[in-house]
Amino acid sequence: MLMQALRGTQDILPKQVYKWNYIENMIRHLCALYGYGEIRTPMFEDTRLFLRGIGDTTDVVTKEMYTFSDRGGRSITLRPENTASVVRSFLEHKMYGDQQVQKVFYIGSMFRYDRPQAGRYREFHQFGVEILGAKSPIADAECIALAYDLFKRLGLNELKLYINSIGHSECRNTYRRKLIEFFEPKTEHLCDDCKERLHKNPLRILDCKEDCCKHASIGAPEITDYLCDDCHNKFEDVKKYLTSMGISYEVNPRLVRGLDYYTNTAFEIQYTPLGSQSAICGGGRYDGLVEEIGGPTTPGIGFAVGMERLLLALESQHLIPEPKETKHIYIAAIGKEAMNLGIRLQKELRDKEIRAEIDLQEKSLKGQMKYAGKTNASMTIIIGESELADGIVQIKDMNTGIQQKINIAQASSYIEEHLDI
Ligand code: HAM
Repeated sequence: MLMQALRGTQDILPKQVYKWNYIENMIRHLCALYGYGEIRTPMFEDTRLFLRGIGDTTDVVTKEMYTFSDRGGRSITLRPENTASVVRSFLEHKMYGDQQVQKVFYIGSMFRYDRPQAGRYREFHQFGVEILGAKSPIADAECIALAYDLFKRLGLNELKLYINSIGHSECRNTYRRKLIEFFEPKTEHLCDDCKERLHKNPLRILDCKEDCCKHASIGAPEITDYLCDDCHNKFEDVKKYLTSMGISYEVNPRLVRGLDYYTNTAFEIQYTPLGSQSAICGGGRYDGLVEEIGGPTTPGIGFAVGMERLLLALESQHLIPEPKETKHIYIAAIGKEAMNLGIRLQKELRDKEIRAEIDLQEKSLKGQMKYAGKTNASMTIIIGESELADGIVQIKDMNTGIQQKINIAQASSYIEEHLDI
């Protein structure tokens, strides 16, 4: 049986990987500039972390988690997102101890059992940042600015930033009651999922993609009318700072986001040409999450960018520069003794930081020369029996076709001098 990658997963092949490296290098550069340290957490965690962190009525938890028992009978889940894991790590390592703001970023695989389509996968990658310990609305704006700066540096325009405030728990409780009152008489018009959400998580109805629910939501109360003074002022400050940073936004009172930990600011950056999977970045504030996971009251804010979606957007605009080809030397050797010499020369060249490769398939000389041409070698070193007997090698410039006899001892220095790197 020919095995294939599982549905919703994909291989990133050597010919494609430069695109990922290009984006990741930009991310690392930018995060260093903004003062964020990289964090790497495990890809699986105790299932209870996500139940508590993300919320047990969310789609991610009820429908999308890869959860299994390990051989020790523990319930394990492949991380569907990384905010809960970062908070777990923050607590485990008592990173709150020094009272400093912690600014971290991560790049890695996440796993969600969802219906795969372009821009939606079961294993996907996120670049995310989390700021822990900063309650000022400046942190909200700085977080959004970092995502914006990344997209701008990558050359991506046509972005739309949607922001909202879903208040703190009390504003949200009042709003929930208003929403339930609004939707209860329309229950029969809601999709089955939303019928269930009505009393558990009515905010999610606003975010439902089903036409019947979109229709039923027309005229629904808006959260921005139920914010307390403090939450209202914080939201005004975030908007003010965004304006000062020259970042334009649209307030979308229906933006509620799919994870339960959010409080106050919620935002999404969309690249509309991607169609139904246009959200390339989503985030918000989660001032209650650290406490929920068992730590001291600590404000948090962050976002995550879907790397595959970002890549699709960049590819569609031809914004990923082709990689520079490194010049290289191919060593064509015939016979064991010549090979032995070839291997020594190969090491000498590599020690001089020159890319060098030798035949690994015991091909004929003709086959080796063909391979050198196909792989665009700049020069080929040819070593046969007669060359060995004369203590020389032939060095062929693959562009001009000119072949020179060079003393074995001088071969690597000759290449170093003539290879225009
Ligand atoms: P999220 O909105 O669930 O938020 O995911 C963030 C981004 O990950 C989405 O905007 C999308 O680009 C990408 N994404 C999500 N699911 C998939 C999928 N199945 N296939 C491809 N890409 C996907 C979070 O994960 C939060 N942890 C973000 C955050 C960090 N909030 C605060 N801090």
